[in-house]
Amino acid sequence: MSKKILEKIKIDFENSLQTVGTDLGKLEVLRVKFLSRKSELNKILKGIKNLSPEEKKEIGPLANQTRKNIESRLTDLIEEIQQKKDLDKDWIDVTAPGKKERIGHLNLLSKTQREIEKIFTSMSFEIADGPEIENEWYNFDALNIPKNHPARDLWDTFWMKNKNQKGEKLLLRTHTSNSQIHYMENNKPPFQVVVPGRAYRYEATDANHEHSFCQFEALVVGDDVSVANFKSIAQEFFSAFFQDEIKIRLRPSYFPFTEPSFEFDISCKVCRGKGCSTCSNTGWLEMGGCGMVNQRVFESAGYEKDKYQGFAWGFGIERLAMMKYQVNDIRHFRSGDLRFVQQF
Ligand code: PHE
Repeated sequence: MSKKILEKIKIDFENSLQTVGTDLGKLEVLRVKFLSRKSELNKILKGIKNLSPEEKKEIGPLANQTRKNIESRLTDLIEEIQQKKDLDKDWIDVTAPGKKERIGHLNLLSKTQREIEKIFTSMSFEIADGPEIENEWYNFDALNIPKNHPARDLWDTFWMKNKNQKGEKLLLRTHTSNSQIHYMENNKPPFQVVVPGRAYRYEATDANHEHSFCQFEALVVGDDVSVANFKSIAQEFFSAFFQDEIKIRLRPSYFPFTEPSFEFDISCKVCRGKGCSTCSNTGWLEMGGCGMVNQRVFESAGYEKDKYQGFAWGFGIERLAMMKYQVNDIRHFRSGDLRFVQQF
């Protein structure tokens, strides 16, 4: 009797196997049906102990064999399906069209800064760095802008809430000129250095003004540095930067840390000085401030008075980038707008 049932279980199992395909869930259902405690096979196995010795001899091994068979068939099948799945995962369709790798690139500002640094390095300038969080001495006093002096109003300042360990008020530097003092404290003339970096002004923004912007400060100091040296270096730099013949013009101006001081213009890149909308028909574009270093600044840095001469300038990097790459609004640079970023 049991023998027949075992025979039937075997056939049933084989038939059921045909229907499960590669479905692991269905295999589990089969396992429960044929091997669980409530399965028919288990009932037979449990009943063996009540059989007569002859029947035990015959049914015992047969039932065990059936169980083993079913078990190994199931394990083999599961393994096979699993392997096939892993293979599918690793499979590469070599005929599929390639996906273009998206790689980042430098922001236009960084790109422009590197262009500027490259030109100055080729002219034997050193590239230096200065702090963006500064005390009043380096940003103002040392540059001949004492407390309560009206000239401080020229730079609307972001003040920090916290003071430093020495109890000094801190601010976000309003220009890169603070680096003049830091550099001179650590270096003796002659030298020529450019310091690119960020500056901050507490003022309303518009197409030409940002509260955070970049400048590059130049400082050239020696025994007999003159305005003529300054003009020729500036001329060379701007012509290299714009890869064009650029004329420059100085207009008298005022900065506490230079004497004499100038506003610096370059001939309009768009109309080459003829007059157009970019230069408001003047033929000239304003670049920034410059001048011969005030002897008081040398004194602040610990140099002997009237021993050296030098010139300095502070020009906006965004301005240069805007002119070279025809950007009409300074606020684009930090907007994070990919439609802008990806153009360059
Ligand atoms: N620091 C000045 C500014 O940002 C520019 C300047 C630098 C002028 C060096 C003269 C000399 O307005």
